[in-house]
Amino acid sequence: MKLRDLSGLNLRGKYVLLRDDFNVQILDGKITEVFRIERSMPTIDFLHTAGARVAIVSHLGRPKGVRDMKYSLRPIADYMKLPLIDDCLSREFLANMNDGDVVLLENVRFYAGEEANDPEFSRMLANGFDLFVNDAFAVSHRAHASTVGVTKFLPSYAGMLLESEIDNITRVMGNPKHPVLSIVAGSKVSTKIGVLRALVRLSDTLIVGGALGTTFNYALGASVGNSLYEPDQKENALEIIKYATENNCRLLVPLDKGVGPEFKPDARRTDKDINNIAHDDVIIDGGPKTAARDVDEIDRAATVIWNGTVGMAEWMPTWSHGSFAIARAIAQNTRAGKLHSIVGGGDTVAALDACGVMNDITYVSTGGGAFLEFIEGRPLPGIKVLEDGE
Ligand code: 3PG
Repeated sequence: MKLRDLSGLNLRGKYVLLRDDFNVQILDGKITEVFRIERSMPTIDFLHTAGARVAIVSHLGRPKGVRDMKYSLRPIADYMKLPLIDDCLSREFLANMNDGDVVLLENVRFYAGEEANDPEFSRMLANGFDLFVNDAFAVSHRAHASTVGVTKFLPSYAGMLLESEIDNITRVMGNPKHPVLSIVAGSKVSTKIGVLRALVRLSDTLIVGGALGTTFNYALGASVGNSLYEPDQKENALEIIKYATENNCRLLVPLDKGVGPEFKPDARRTDKDINNIAHDDVIIDGGPKTAARDVDEIDRAATVIWNGTVGMAEWMPTWSHGSFAIARAIAQNTRAGKLHSIVGGGDTVAALDACGVMNDITYVSTGGGAFLEFIEGRPLPGIKVLEDGE
C-alpha cells in the first residue's frame, strides 16, 4: 500500500487541516490517558517546524451531532496548550495565523454532517485550507466527513503516526516470526468474528479470554453462572473452534475464572475451575491456572498479538491479575529480546500503562476498532482515500 505522504512538500505558510484522534478518556475534566495525544505529536511538530499553519480536527466521544459540552475538547486544548476554536466550521481565526501556528478545532461530532459524511459539511470543513493530513489511524475505519469527505476537496496526505501504524501492523501480519501467539479477549465474540478468523489463519496458537472466552466455555458446555457472555454466539464460537482445527491453530479457552457474588470492584474474589462455576457466580477475571497457562504460552512464542483484557483490569488489584500476568510476561520477554509484541485496543493499552510496561512492547497501536479491522484485512476508508492513484 503506497500512501501519499508529507515528504517533499513545501508547507511554509500553507493552511493544513490535520485530522487527529484525541478521543481519550476524560474523568472530572482531567485526561486519564495521554497516549494518543503523545503519539500524534511527531506529525504536529513536523508541520509546525515546516512553517505550516495547522488546525487540528478531532472528535471526542459520541455527541451525536449535538453541541454537548460534556464532549468539549477543552481539556485537550489545555493539556496541549493550544488555542481552542470553539466551532470547527468557524474560519475567522485563519487570518490571524502565522507560519508554524497550531490551533485545535472544537469537536467535529457536534455536527451531524460529520458521521453522515455529508458532502456539504465536508466542503465547509475543508474550506480555507490548502491541504489535508490524516494522522488519525484510530478513526480511519469510519467513513466520516473529517476522514473521507474532506479528501474530495483538498489534496490529502498520510501523517507519520498513520504510516507507522500501517507499517508496524502490516509487517507482523505479513511475515511474522513463528511461533505466533494471538490473545483475543474483551467482551464480545460478535464484534470480533472477522479478526478471530484472520488470527486463526496467522497464528500457531490462539488464546481466547475475558467475557469472549466465557462464551467459548459456554459453547463447549460449561455453566457460566450469572456472568457476562453471549449465548446467541454459541454457533459462531463453535465455528471458530472448527476453523482453528482446519487451520492447524491450537485454540485455548479459559481453564478457571475469578468469580464474585456480584459484578462490583469490591466484590469478594474466589477462584474456581471452569467446570465448578455456580449459577449465581459472576465471572470477573481469568483464574490463576489460566494466567499460568497464558504466561507459559507467551514464553514459547516468538510473536505475540494481543487485544482485549481478560478481566476487569481497571478494578485493581482484585480483578486485574489475569490481564496483568499477560502484560508483564509479554513485556518481560520483549525486553529480553525473545519476543516481537504488538498490542492494540483502549482497555488493553490502559492495562499496559497500569502495569508500567508501555515502553517494553515492540509496538502499541493507538487503534481500537481500527486495529481490529486492519488486522482482519478490511480496507479502512480513511486510509484508502490516501492511496496513490485514489
Ligand atoms: C476509537 O476510540 O476507537 C476511535 O476514536 C473511534 O471512535 P468511535 O468508535 O466512536 O467511532
